[in-house]
Amino acid sequence: MTVKTAELREMKTDINKTDRARMAEKLGETLASTYVLYQKTQSVHWNVTGPMFVGVHKLTEGQYEDLAASIDTIAERIRALGAKTPVGLSTYINNSVIDDQVEWGDVDAMLKQLSNDTLTVANQMREFVKTAEEADDVFTADLLTARIGALEESSWMLSANLSSIN
Ligand SMILES: [Fe+2]
Repeated sequence: MTVKTAELREMKTDINKTDRARMAEKLGETLASTYVLYQKTQSVHWNVTGPMFVGVHKLTEGQYEDLAASIDTIAERIRALGAKTPVGLSTYINNSVIDDQVEWGDVDAMLKQLSNDTLTVANQMREFVKTAEEADDVFTADLLTARIGALEESSWMLSANLSSIN
């Protein structure tokens, strides 16, 4: 995902153009990963069966709603930095840090995979926080830091449904 400085809106900000382009690229990758995670969370919400149905169905509903809101926040941050947001579901799938694999297996396998995917997206954001701090883009660093906390909590809640973990 490449953002050229020439494509950026002129702005009176202390974040220089090169850094704005770099942050827009990273946020585009974050958007792509979050979009794929959003869809994967919905597919667990829809397809979960068995004794944990009600709990997992409700948990994942709250999680995909949170992801949907965050997708909007991330996309609008890209615009606030003067860049265009990436568009198209294929763009998101191709630039996501997690795949859009839909072979889930049983409920335990489903929960484990979604929990791991959630942490993978958080870990990518952690890398991008460093880039944001180097660029003095404090708002993006803060936004991504908050998302890491939300995703790490989601991952824990998904895995806490498994009897095999402590
Ligand atoms: Fe639903």
